[in-house]
Amino acid sequence: LRVLVLAGGLSYERDVSLRSGRRVLDALRSTGMTAELHDADVSLLPALQADPPDAVVIALHGATGEDGSLRGVLDLCGVPYVGADARTARMAWDKPSAKSRLREAGIPTPDWVALPHDRFSELGAVAVLDRIVERLGLPLMVKPTQGGSGLGAAVVRDAADLPAAMVGCFAYDSTALVEQYVTGTSLAVSIVDLGTGPEALPIVEIVPRDGVYDYAARYTAGLTTWHVPARLDPAVAARVSETALNAYKALGLRDLSRIDVIVAEGGEPQVLGCNVSPGLTETSLLPLAVQAAGVDLGAVLGALVERAVA
Ligand code: DAL
Repeated sequence: LRVLVLAGGLSYERDVSLRSGRRVLDALRSTGMTAELHDADVSLLPALQADPPDAVVIALHGATGEDGSLRGVLDLCGVPYVGADARTARMAWDKPSAKSRLREAGIPTPDWVALPHDRFSELGAVAVLDRIVERLGLPLMVKPTQGGSGLGAAVVRDAADLPAAMVGCFAYDSTALVEQYVTGTSLAVSIVDLGTGPEALPIVEIVPRDGVYDYAARYTAGLTTWHVPARLDPAVAARVSETALNAYKALGLRDLSRIDVIVAEGGEPQVLGCNVSPGLTETSLLPLAVQAAGVDLGAVLGALVERAVA
């Protein structure tokens, strides 16, 4: 099989994607598959038409790779790919849409408000922020509605810090998601479906050295400690895995995803979001979970490629 690994692209997460792409390439090659890396740039469409690969693995993060647009192009070209279909990606990558879908399915997710920049300006920043704090309370999490890797995200503990957080967020997106910030244990549940239905891998517990899991904490070795499996009471761990699997199904995801979950002391697991194209870098969470499950990343990706082609 000839597999094209797509990485790079033009999103804010380009560098992360190139790291994911190289790891995927090495993992697939270690299984004996013929795999090539291709940047998701203007040369992609002619390359797909001139010499269509048997399948594509999308190691793109952020716009294009996760928002469904590139998946639509692959559909048009008739090239199978690993991961969510275009329509699902478009919905699941938009945080308010995904959260609404989770809420409809009865899956707990922190309460939120989505605030477009023009409405923020039109209503007057102070008045609208006061109303948000009144409704959601403090602390809050502000993040772009579309994006990842913690870029443009900030925890707001004091209402006076909210305007700066909004401005930081609007640098990345024209709409901000303002969400109740839940203090608790941060967890990531990787889900893989090798053809026998989605299965939750060992839960990863995330403990950032400085308390915030921002871009630096995600991608700089030594800034975050992971516990795999997470240090949870077995009954809580089972509820976390079940909640994540329910989220994966409710969102209609396919093949692989990572569901981010928070559990407050004595509380029910709440889903923070899903990753249509989860990070696969050397400090990313899905590869850690695969390793903890005693499986080889190349074998998992290879099996997903075989499934996409079948
Ligand atoms: N958006 C990045 C790649 C992640 O959360 O894994």
